[in-house]
Amino acid sequence: MSIRTKSMDLRKRVLTASQGGGQKAIAKQIAMGKLTARERILALLDPDSFHEYDLFVEHAGKDFDMDKKHLPGDGVVTGTGTVNGYPICIFAQDFTVAGGSLGYAHAKKITKIMDHAMKMKVPLIGINDSGGARIQEGVNSLAGYGEIFYRNTLASGVIPQISVILGPCAGGAVYSPALTDFVFVVDNISKMFITGPEVIKTVLGEEISMEELGGARVHAETTGNAHFFANNEFECFAQIKNLFSYIPWNNSKKAERFESEKPKKTYKISSFFPTDPKEPYDIRNIIRSIADNSDFFEVQELFAPNIVIGFSRIEGDTVGFVANQPMVLAGVLDVDSSDKAARFIRFCDAFNIPLITLVDLPGYLPGVDQEHAGVIRHGAKLLYAYSEATVAKVTIILRKAYGGGYIAMSSRHLRADFVFAWPTAEIAVMGPEGAANIIFKSEIMAAENPEEMRLKKVQEYKDKFANPYVAAAYGHVDAVIDPSETRSFISHALDVSVQKTVNHPFKKHGIPPF
Ligand code: HXC
Repeated sequence: MSIRTKSMDLRKRVLTASQGGGQKAIAKQIAMGKLTARERILALLDPDSFHEYDLFVEHAGKDFDMDKKHLPGDGVVTGTGTVNGYPICIFAQDFTVAGGSLGYAHAKKITKIMDHAMKMKVPLIGINDSGGARIQEGVNSLAGYGEIFYRNTLASGVIPQISVILGPCAGGAVYSPALTDFVFVVDNISKMFITGPEVIKTVLGEEISMEELGGARVHAETTGNAHFFANNEFECFAQIKNLFSYIPWNNSKKAERFESEKPKKTYKISSFFPTDPKEPYDIRNIIRSIADNSDFFEVQELFAPNIVIGFSRIEGDTVGFVANQPMVLAGVLDVDSSDKAARFIRFCDAFNIPLITLVDLPGYLPGVDQEHAGVIRHGAKLLYAYSEATVAKVTIILRKAYGGGYIAMSSRHLRADFVFAWPTAEIAVMGPEGAANIIFKSEIMAAENPEEMRLKKVQEYKDKFANPYVAAAYGHVDAVIDPSETRSFISHALDVSVQKTVNHPFKKHGIPPF
């Protein structure tokens, strides 16, 4: 055969192999409002950058007549490419081929591209659209998942790992996304659950739809398994590209540096920060008033909104913001907000992203529900994450910083490098009302007019402690600054922290309160 003939033969083979599960299955995929695996990759990656590997891999199933079936690419497309010019490794499960179910060869393709991502130290993107373990292949499918989970764990903190749920992600399969750094979901398309509606009906006799059980909204709002929610696949891909602009390729690099831009003129701290200390406000407006071009890329926006986390830039460099949200539950810490912030802090720390913490909270959320849900254990994660983080840590106390909340929110005592307070800061063991009621109890009770005395004592406590100057006098706060100086203080603090090094005691690893 001449080279020309062989090339034609190759083209024919590639064309056949890349047709997925055939026209009927593709039509079903389209009818469900979903793109195909290859369309997704092409829509997400930079034009002409995708290089596919293992297209001709054959499945390994022998039982239940599987040996008579041909499953193109064994239901998964793998390869390398670029996003915003970044090199990445990617796999996309192809639901049109045996429901994207994971058999031995399918898993081998995924683990091969994962190994590649680790060797080359580039991010890994996994697009999940699968019925789970291929039932006909039994234990080999389970083995495949185990191999993936192991690699997800080893890669954690070395390369960014991104999971995109664009279809079912059923059974144990959910644990790969759960082990990765960021999970993207799309309304009406993503479905994640350990046991599906059928099993729930059989075992518990309860009827529930897939959407109600583990749809995109459920994971974005309630479980916190998802970090980004989109209305369609294209919006989801735009979110992924945006995320990549803020994070580095791997843990030995810094995120790309951009041109420095001042915050937009419409964002001024003074127009968003209320004069009444009890009035709520949206902390995201304060972040935008500090950040380059007022850009803030929020993470887990819909989950535990009493804390706000996300990426911005200061003078062109990526920073991670962690901020109490006075607009929701007065910005208290609770089980979910502690989990949310702790994981984000660990991501930023692993990938050399400085942390900016904005503090305004009355403390931890009181109540039996929280105590019994383990607020002690979950709350401890936040303290652990801040204490362990060695990236530059800058803290600004805006208003309330009471009790455990003061300590937990990147205080000097957990080794914040710089702690600044606005003149409106109130740093105390607890709020003036509660404090006065306890320490002046007998005086209040003995007074002719107890209510008058109570108010007097509350004011006395406020005058003494509800300000930043006591903390500043002890050096727990480095500087009391005017709110308008916040950006320049942060920017300078980051500049002088560029060479920051911290030597923690040697250990195999810590034992965080998982
Ligand atoms: C083999 C599967 C499959 C699977 C789907 N298919 N899931 N084949 N193993 N797990 C096949 C179907 O037989 C069908 O093949 C094609 O994929 C499309 O599936 P449909 O059911 O027609 O599609 P749809 O109606 O959209 O329903 C999708 C679904 C459903 C909701 C995902 O297929 C489903 O419930 N599958 C099982 C999900 C599940 O329980 N998985 C957990 C497995 S155990 P044909 O040839 O007819 O087109 C597990 C444990 C892992 O994952 C543990 C790791 C620790």
